[in-house]
Amino acid sequence: MSESDISPLGRGGFHCSLCDVRLPNSPTLNDHIKGKKHQKLLSVRRTRKLQQERSVFVSGFQKGMSNLEITDYFQKFGTVANVIMDKDKGLYAIVEMESNKEVEKILSLPQHSMNGQKLRVKHREYKEFKYIPKKKQDPGEKQFIDFEELSWALCQVVDVDEQLKKLLELFEFTDSERMLRKLIVSLIQEVFSEFFPSCKVLLFGSSVNAFDIHGCDMDLFLDLENTTTYQANASATAETEGVKDAHFESQSEDSILSDIDLKISTAAEILEVVATVLQKCVPGVHKVQAVTTARLPVVKFIHKESGLQGDISINNRLAVRNTTFLQLCASLDPRVRPLVYTIRHWAKQKHLAGNPFGGGSLMNNYAVTLLVVFFLQNRTTPILPTVNDLKEHAGEEDQCIIDGWDCTFPRNGSKIEATTNTEGLCELLAEFYKFYAAFDYAGTVISLRDGKAHLVTDFIGPDSDKQFRFGPINIQDPFELSHNVSGNINERTAQRFKRQLDEACKYCRSLQYQRKSTKKKAWGIVRLLQPLSSTDCSPAPSPSLDHSPGKEMSHGENMLSIPFKLLCLSEQTKKRLHGSQDFREVWFDKVCHAVLYVMESILKCSCSYTEENNTQINNAEINSLDEAKNKEVKISSGLKRPNPEEEIAETSSNKRSRTEAPLYQGEVTWQCAVWNRIWIGRRKIRRQLRYRTNESDSDNCGIISSLETEAKITEAILQQEENSDKSSPLVTFRLSAFLVGGNEDTRTMIRVTPIQDSTLFVEFFHFLESFIPKMIEKCIEKSD
Ligand code: UTP
Repeated sequence: MSESDISPLGRGGFHCSLCDVRLPNSPTLNDHIKGKKHQKLLSVRRTRKLQQERSVFVSGFQKGMSNLEITDYFQKFGTVANVIMDKDKGLYAIVEMESNKEVEKILSLPQHSMNGQKLRVKHREYKEFKYIPKKKQDPGEKQFIDFEELSWALCQVVDVDEQLKKLLELFEFTDSERMLRKLIVSLIQEVFSEFFPSCKVLLFGSSVNAFDIHGCDMDLFLDLENTTTYQANASATAETEGVKDAHFESQSEDSILSDIDLKISTAAEILEVVATVLQKCVPGVHKVQAVTTARLPVVKFIHKESGLQGDISINNRLAVRNTTFLQLCASLDPRVRPLVYTIRHWAKQKHLAGNPFGGGSLMNNYAVTLLVVFFLQNRTTPILPTVNDLKEHAGEEDQCIIDGWDCTFPRNGSKIEATTNTEGLCELLAEFYKFYAAFDYAGTVISLRDGKAHLVTDFIGPDSDKQFRFGPINIQDPFELSHNVSGNINERTAQRFKRQLDEACKYCRSLQYQRKSTKKKAWGIVRLLQPLSSTDCSPAPSPSLDHSPGKEMSHGENMLSIPFKLLCLSEQTKKRLHGSQDFREVWFDKVCHAVLYVMESILKCSCSYTEENNTQINNAEINSLDEAKNKEVKISSGLKRPNPEEEIAETSSNKRSRTEAPLYQGEVTWQCAVWNRIWIGRRKIRRQLRYRTNESDSDNCGIISSLETEAKITEAILQQEENSDKSSPLVTFRLSAFLVGGNEDTRTMIRVTPIQDSTLFVEFFHFLESFIPKMIEKCIEKSD
């Protein structure tokens, strides 16, 4: 075993980077190291290393050169063990010889040439062995160009603008791929027309939205509107005339359509029928499966010959329309496609986008594309018009309302004036990262309709759409205005997104990005597109996550992040906040009250308000804070063990102050102390309490009882430890709450700094990391 394969994790666990597994403790680590998988990978790594050492990297030969011709040439220097060529057979080849000696012989020759063409021959670069777990083969994936191939091709061009164009060229469909998809669709159309008279089968999504990449899924919409009308008319005629409509009967005799009434059936029922037709009657299709529980129910299938995967949906007219919108955007300016391709690929490489099986907590590609469109609407001289601007250019024939949403825009861009913006792709890409690195995600909603970021508080209140599902990133669909297209992503993905934006933004300022390397190093977008290693996928350690303008994060700080959550607020508060600019301050005040409540009343810590850092609070406020919250707890160490009776009185005084005007502003700091190991054994006590009170195990036992339960758990721990002598606190620390940045962010941050160094602090902080954000949310929900 190489020591460097194993790294310790918190709480006594380990990570084996060779096999990419986590081991909870030393015995499992020892078993793992002796195990088959680890041993096999060690041996594969050794073999690969030897193979790499015996190989040379060759480029510069004529396009179309065969494997055999290259073998022939290098045979002069010894036995050629293997030749691997790039897919296009023109870029490079890796020639593996039988021994290192033969490689030395090849490299000692100053000049190589084949058919009059000068060859470039060099040592094969050492590539760290990386285990990629076998996954179910994704049929789209097999045609993807790998990173080595891509970076080689991108490094050959002259500048960054050309790199973006090259990437597009390497990824987009060939004519035959496009043709194949059309053929599959017409085959399905032909068969479906037999069973669903007058139906239409339409492609949408990346197969046709101008952002196609090799092997991408086929999204199909089965339009049954005409079929439904046809079926309704046919049965009405049959009823009134007392005879069966001959045509309808002949079409649907022992046909599936006679078993189902399209007008009253659910999407799931119809899709079951669609799946049956697809399975039994469409040639070359297999692995048909109706997935009816998803937000958008679909029938999945695979086209055997090509390996292409398809999804058929029936209630998705809006998607067909927004696909046309993306086509229009791509046609309006030649910079749109290379930018979208590059950014989508960057997001995929950094595990930010592209949920492999549909659902998941990453961004979908549609959301990433909308982010690029919004950015282009927001250049000082806009490159793309807003949806409202486009609507102005629409004619009578372009008017379109789907499910009540206005989807009007011109069918082609001929009437839209070209932009005068002349920014190059290199600059635009760098600006994209800069634009979004400084964005307030949780506090705003991105609207492509008017090209503006609106405050979330504009979306609440009497006239706004209540269904909008707020999340850490809010991108309003340009047509279905109640839909947040990034509503599926979680806080973790959002944080990773911001971190990657920061990194990309920083890198784009370097010369390495802007200029082609003369030393054959990776340059330009190549570095941006480097895949993220598995360890980079986890959230960043708290301190580096939470940098913010004006806040220096020194080493050793521990941060908790409390994002603005509209859903915690009562209807009354939401109404009050409607359109207000100061909702961040209101949120901050609520978080501060909740923090104190959780620390004192639930965790039974002692907290003492300190004036250090509380710079922006005026004297009157300090007095009221002192009255409301400062217990007489200061002793020589600064803190006194809390008295449960005082606690109750305290809690009710807190409750009172919570309804009053904001008390907390600026940076607020408390000195706190924990006297017992209140973080140990909570789960067990929680289970016992739930068993006794017959509460369900899930968290839906109610917010109030949940806060109460947590307080009872702490009390139970205190009782267990009653007899142990605790004359001094176990952990003392400072809690400082502050808002991030100016108007760029709406999160409240809580910095937790140990006063005395203690190993217990690390354990305690781990507990706080998951406990505090959840409890604060519950607390705000309860109190608001
Ligand atoms: P995808 O996110 O899969 O985008 O959504 P894509 O461009 O097809 O990229 P691939 O398939 O991942 O390569 C597919 C289509 O579904 C609709 C859009 O029409 C999009 O083009 N869609 C997706 C929505 O209408 N709303 C959503 O929230 C997501």
